[in-house]
Amino acid sequence: MSDTLRPPPPSMPLPSNATTQRIPAVTLSSAGSSPASWSGATARPAPEASGAWSPPPFPQPGSFLQSTRGVYEVCKVIGGGEFGAVFECVGPFDQAYALKMIRPANRPYQEVYTEWASEVQRLMSLRHPNVVYIYDAFEQYHLFFLALERCEHSLADMLDRPMQEPLVLELSRQLLAAVQFLHDNDVVHDDLHAGNVLIVSKVDRPVVKISDFGISHELRGAPAVRPKVVHHTIMAPEIAASGYTTKQSDLYQVGLLLYRMLTGESAVPADIAYDDLLRYVAEGEPRRRAETICTPLGFLIAKLLRRREQYRYTSAREVWTDLRELPTWKRRDPNLFPIR
Ligand SMILES: Nc1ncnc2c1ncn2[C@@H]1O[C@H](COP(=O)(O)OP(=O)(O)OP(=O)(O)O)[C@@H](O)[C@H]1O
Ligand SMILES: [Mg+2]
Repeated sequence: MSDTLRPPPPSMPLPSNATTQRIPAVTLSSAGSSPASWSGATARPAPEASGAWSPPPFPQPGSFLQSTRGVYEVCKVIGGGEFGAVFECVGPFDQAYALKMIRPANRPYQEVYTEWASEVQRLMSLRHPNVVYIYDAFEQYHLFFLALERCEHSLADMLDRPMQEPLVLELSRQLLAAVQFLHDNDVVHDDLHAGNVLIVSKVDRPVVKISDFGISHELRGAPAVRPKVVHHTIMAPEIAASGYTTKQSDLYQVGLLLYRMLTGESAVPADIAYDDLLRYVAEGEPRRRAETICTPLGFLIAKLLRRREQYRYTSAREVWTDLRELPTWKRRDPNLFPIR
């Protein structure tokens, strides 16, 4: 999380147009797979309660971290944020991992523990080829770790120029498959920006891995949730207006990602002041920008960016049903992104 995060506006009634369909919540894939049972990291007394306590330093390259599943050698930092850092590590069986570290810093230990435990649990239960794989989770020296599959880079690293349409469609296809899977499991991600879409290169295509479930929510049958924080540049109009998000808010964020992939530009100016941003989003500027692309894909992105959720697509599945009909996809080179 960064300083671009803002608390949502004051509490308002739930949007009446939000979906009310109840989908069974996910269950853990195996017994005893809670973070606590993996590593002995149960919620202990907060260390700050014992008086003079300062947040522990970051692990240094060359140091070792111990979980009940083995030893991880810290190699280098590959990502970071206010939460802590992400390290490349060599773990048990000499495999490369991305070790995400969350540290209490100036937040209460118990709050960070709860946040870490819920991200671990969510990743454990959401096993999908397009969701980043979690191998292990443990606590050491009051630092919380998640051992994740090591991806090559994030989508953000591919956005310095417009992508070819077939590539936009292939990445969208995988992204939508993952979002549909989350929504079928009653989870709203709420943080679908390019830094949270990771990429693994396979022989015939880049493979999308959605990551960072730090602020995601289970709907538990409710039509909408109220996230504690939102990344303001990917804020859907309903968050700005009411403070609530729904599955359709994720589709809006997907629309912003598609726009960015296709044009190489952000649909929301990066340096815009917060109050101007609220107006920009409320007035539907991102949708208008998508419409000016003036191609079938541009109009489809515009539909994802509609201000009112009920005028957007109702599901990720429905988005792909339209995308797959586009001539660029239907008439692509048969060797390009073959169906496997
Ligand atoms: N499994 C991974 N493989 C490779 N790199 C990773 C992995 N996980 C995270 N990273 C890198 O670390 C960055 C930060 O990780 P992550 O998004 O999980 O943390 P965050 O602080 O919650 O992020 P933010 O609040 O900015 O969304 C990612 O954008 C990515 O560059
Ligand atoms: Mg992130």
